[in-house]
Amino acid sequence: CGIVGYTTDPAASNTGALDVVLEGLRRLEYRGYDSAGVALQVGTGGQLWTAKRSGKLARLEEALAAASPPVSGTGIGHTRWATHGGPTDENAHPHLGGNGRVAVIHNGIIENFAVLKNELLADGVEFLSQTDTEVAAHLLNAAYETAGDLTEAMRLVANRLEGAFTLLAVHADVPDTVVGARRNSPLVVGVGDGANYLGSDVAAFIGYTRDAIELGQDQIATITPRTVGIIDFDGNPVEGKKFHVDWDAAAAEKGGHPSFMAKEIMDQPQAVADTLLGRYDADGNLVLDELRIDESALRSVDKIVVLACGTSSYAGMVAKYAIEHWCRIPVEVELSHEFRYRDPVVNPRTLVVAISQSGETMDTIMAIRHAREQGAKVVAICNTHGSTIPRESDAVLYTHAGPEIAVASTKAFLAQITACYLLGLYLARLRGNKFPDEIREILGQLQAMPDKIQKVLDGLEQVRTMARWMADTRSVLFLGRHVGYPVAMEGALKLKELAYIHAEGFAAGELKHGPIALIEPGQAVFVIVPSPRGRDSLHSKVVSNIQEINARGARTIVIAEEGDTDVVPYASEVIYVPQTPTLLAPLVTVVPLQVFACELATAKGLDVDQPRNLAKSVTVE
Ligand code: G6P
Repeated sequence: CGIVGYTTDPAASNTGALDVVLEGLRRLEYRGYDSAGVALQVGTGGQLWTAKRSGKLARLEEALAAASPPVSGTGIGHTRWATHGGPTDENAHPHLGGNGRVAVIHNGIIENFAVLKNELLADGVEFLSQTDTEVAAHLLNAAYETAGDLTEAMRLVANRLEGAFTLLAVHADVPDTVVGARRNSPLVVGVGDGANYLGSDVAAFIGYTRDAIELGQDQIATITPRTVGIIDFDGNPVEGKKFHVDWDAAAAEKGGHPSFMAKEIMDQPQAVADTLLGRYDADGNLVLDELRIDESALRSVDKIVVLACGTSSYAGMVAKYAIEHWCRIPVEVELSHEFRYRDPVVNPRTLVVAISQSGETMDTIMAIRHAREQGAKVVAICNTHGSTIPRESDAVLYTHAGPEIAVASTKAFLAQITACYLLGLYLARLRGNKFPDEIREILGQLQAMPDKIQKVLDGLEQVRTMARWMADTRSVLFLGRHVGYPVAMEGALKLKELAYIHAEGFAAGELKHGPIALIEPGQAVFVIVPSPRGRDSLHSKVVSNIQEINARGARTIVIAEEGDTDVVPYASEVIYVPQTPTLLAPLVTVVPLQVFACELATAKGLDVDQPRNLAKSVTVE
């Protein structure tokens, strides 16, 4: 989502709020969105002026042109990427409270919105949308009535909300003021001359000012045309961290990263955290109420078929290992286009899990239609609200990776794997835990994954250096076993997609059955090594594979768990990742492979965001 707030003294400035807000929204378009809206202040004592539309900014602009908006110095604007509630006009932001006197826009997810909404409904408040955000608008209205101060009202509301949020608000009775609150989702202040700004990133105001203040976690900023005040959620004044933006507008969109892909790789801890957010209760138990599918139907499922294409299919392969182990249900993973045109055995006791970032991949759409015709139930795991695959499925579990712009998938992949774990753990509980202790342990460990992914990202200079000097490599092999196998496949796919290098992923156990013939001196081979703490002595088997290829002169680049010294004698390079339970390891082991492909392609001077011949969403069969 994109967020913009602006205030200036209309008498002193001829740039009205509407122009600045729309320009900000245009600059934030790169973040992806499915609806947009604005709220403007028009004198005190009345209502705010608002307009919102589903679809692209052009639709909002048409509506604005037809409505002749008032001249105003203060306003907020939002582009929404749907999470709670589909992308409709009603669900677009701003949301209003106090009969249109308070307007709120929001990024993130308010986890406890259902409880708060019930409270407000009991007080007779009427809701006009299905969003979690509207709760904040009504709460803010009530808090302002009591506190008589918009900043204090925002502080009171922020303290009642759980989850991740950036909130921006304007009030008809509080002229020349925008208040913003930040928890987990980003918010920056832009400092102008006689005008101040708030934005979800600096791209929102880079056309007007390059002086900015970063808000910290749990802070509230109040801007007027000539002042910026910051407090924390306890009400203590805070000195904001000032900085000067020296990126150009294009770099600003990428958060200072050289490409969207580089940015999206760095966004992965957040993508995983957001996908987990709101799906646990206070006792750490899983809640997937959104998965509206009859529990008895789920209990009677005797087979799961995962359908997907490309990177999403590798998330499906990880799901197979996890779900079969936790739930003892057979899981098949199949490419959607292969499934559709054979004669698959599917019936009403089959649960199809369709995984798709875009929700628009035609191969997968055709496959789920085919499965449903034969009575199967379909659960979609999807990143795009309101897209075709969730619409045509019986239930959906959304990944909250946010919009993914680079064609090659990274953060959506990690979010998909996370969602698959959630689904597997949910089914395990529903069908009677076979391993209650292990499942409790995994639920806890899952919440530690964002920090572990961050740790991997913080230590990747070695991979970057290696990628740069391997820019001339002609062929790279990837070996993995168990959940390391789909990771090897994904590592190879990333290198093909981004760097146009011949790359292949193999199950390490298959090495001796053929691929070992490819090993010659200098051949680069990545090996994803299972944890030495894992079961079934897979670790020692893969270490033997490394010995075999090392003896034939290969350059082995080993991804191993911290503390694993067994691999050192046979590896040209060892990349260590934090210790994790075996089934969760793909969330950390794939990250160096993504960074390797991105860096190597960049070193070759290629466009990593839009590789040749590829499309982000393939809407033809
Ligand atoms: C295209 C993209 C891939 C993606 C695949 C599946 O081929 O280039 O990055 O993995 O489609 O897309 P989906 O949106 O269904 O996950």
